[in-house]
Amino acid sequence: MKNISRSFEDYLKSYRRSIEQPEAFWEELGAEFRWRKKWDRVLDWDFMKPEVKWFVGGKLNITENCLDRHLETRGDQNAIIWEPNDPGEEPAYITYRELHSKVCQFANTLKEQGIKKGDRVCIYMPMVPELTVSVLACARIGAIHSVVFAGFSSRSLMERINDASCKMIITADGGYRGDKITGLKDIVDEALVDCPSIEKCIVLKRTGQQIEFVEGRDLWWDEAIEGKIDICEPEIMDSEDMLFILYTSGSTGKPKGMVHTCGGYMVYTAYTFLNAFQYKEGDIYWCTADVGWITGHSYIIYGPLAAGATSMMFEGVPSWPGMDRFWEVVDKHRVNIFYTAPTAIRALEKCDPALVERHDLSSLRVLGTVGEPINEEAWHWYHDMIGKGRCPIVDTYWQTETGGFMISPIAGITPTKPAFATLPMPGIVPAVMNEDGKEEIGNGVEGRLCIKFPWPSMARTIYGDHQRFHDTYFSGFPNKYFTGDGCRRDEEGYYRITGRVDDVIIVAGHNLGTAEIENAIDEHENVCETAVVGYPHDIKGNAVHAFVNCFHPPKDEDDLRQEILTLVSRIVGPIAKPERIQFVSGLPKTRSGKIMRRILRKIAEGNTGDLGDTSTLLNPEIVDEILGGNAL
Ligand code: PRX
Repeated sequence: MKNISRSFEDYLKSYRRSIEQPEAFWEELGAEFRWRKKWDRVLDWDFMKPEVKWFVGGKLNITENCLDRHLETRGDQNAIIWEPNDPGEEPAYITYRELHSKVCQFANTLKEQGIKKGDRVCIYMPMVPELTVSVLACARIGAIHSVVFAGFSSRSLMERINDASCKMIITADGGYRGDKITGLKDIVDEALVDCPSIEKCIVLKRTGQQIEFVEGRDLWWDEAIEGKIDICEPEIMDSEDMLFILYTSGSTGKPKGMVHTCGGYMVYTAYTFLNAFQYKEGDIYWCTADVGWITGHSYIIYGPLAAGATSMMFEGVPSWPGMDRFWEVVDKHRVNIFYTAPTAIRALEKCDPALVERHDLSSLRVLGTVGEPINEEAWHWYHDMIGKGRCPIVDTYWQTETGGFMISPIAGITPTKPAFATLPMPGIVPAVMNEDGKEEIGNGVEGRLCIKFPWPSMARTIYGDHQRFHDTYFSGFPNKYFTGDGCRRDEEGYYRITGRVDDVIIVAGHNLGTAEIENAIDEHENVCETAVVGYPHDIKGNAVHAFVNCFHPPKDEDDLRQEILTLVSRIVGPIAKPERIQFVSGLPKTRSGKIMRRILRKIAEGNTGDLGDTSTLLNPEIVDEILGGNAL
């Protein structure tokens, strides 16, 4: 592929060209793919509306590029290597030819079940190959997939299904994760009670557990695909037709369905995958994320497959059956490029070094990290213990909204600095804005991170709510996309992401909206009002501290804590459970009634020496009470 940097000079040259002649730069990359009709214009954009279109008028199908295009040249190469949860179970090796055949067969199944172009299909599955097959089969026929992470509760699933009016859901009887089995179909059944748009539910048999079956609605995967042929003409899509919806937490309780489209997303994910990781023919690449998150969409499925890579999928967790599972799998499959999250690195860093040393990690060439800022200590451990000091670390900064990498080193080419995402990818024009909304010019500055120019894989809208898309990302700093993150640009122009500046908390790499958790806790009959803030946590990066004001003093605080945890688990999902719950008799408020989260954040951080001016509060006395209280 063109424009892949092979030296730092190359990178600088590509970067300059991508800024000076963006259309020519992206056109050259677009030309590497298979299009049914070439685009009329490379780019139309207006950030004020906002409206962004890439490869305008182009026609294609992304699966033709991820599958068919490779059949002649690498049909027998593994597209997917699947490592099951239980190391005793056989891995699956699926070649491009086999994957093509499975996707076509399932695409025909979807059609037979009444799914057509533009229909929304929810996917709620464990990390098994059929998840990838489902995603690609939707794309094959132009159906819009909405994958919901299989750790979300039935309520969260129901809200996401209804927001997109999904017509079908694809799930499994259950899913394995470490020593736990989750009854996915039971959760789906509970959600579907309130999902009138769902007509069919396809169920993959994974655990073999007992499940309920609703006649006329539910059907087994194996029975559904039986007799379906494995040839399916791809639906011809417009560049800007929707490819998928993926929900992410926002500042209000309602998750945002980020909409990604076909053409630009394909070009950008494939290009950044090849460039940042410096993937070489024959490499085994392993991204440990779940397909339920954007990392799995862009860098397990679409980017690697569009680039013709071998991508590993892992069903399990890093801690089971032992804390050396990652290293065992790297050794077993001779992984060359390994991509994970800081929270996993921090958890593994605490373990006995022998757990690493007993495995042969010599196949590793490149290490990657994503999802939250990586602290220097974890960076060094990853670099020294796992990479043995010879593997570059690509700290990739990006978001569900951006579809692909924004700021990241190019492996082995960009000189790295611990905890810095380093420099923008070609085509990305960052701007650091100060509190007054003015752009900071030059280096050695700090502020809010915006992007000034469109890039091909950016989200186009929030499903069903373009106004919210505008208000959230394009109104704070006119004519710029606002990321919601703070950052520092150092003297050398390197970027260090300092974290969210809005009401999103990143816990163990998962985005959680404070409002979402507050709303869940507020549903308890004895809870009057809640404020949730994040505080630094050794392993998870951040954890959740909930300040809860009750109508009546709880009879037994521990019981109420348990009830609240269960409630959050049920409404949002287990990942959102607060680490600490503190009962208070009021929350600090401004005279206009707004909760002063700044103060609560400082208290949760243990930073109580510097609470700032509390005298303007409506109820300053509450601060002393909260300071004297217990959080468990
Ligand atoms: O705060 C940034 C953080 O994760 C947020 C995006 O989360 P999500 O949409 O779930 O996507 C995660 C996977 C791309 C960002 O706004 N973040 C992501 N990567 C990094 C990061 N913070 C610092 N360094 C990173 N490499």
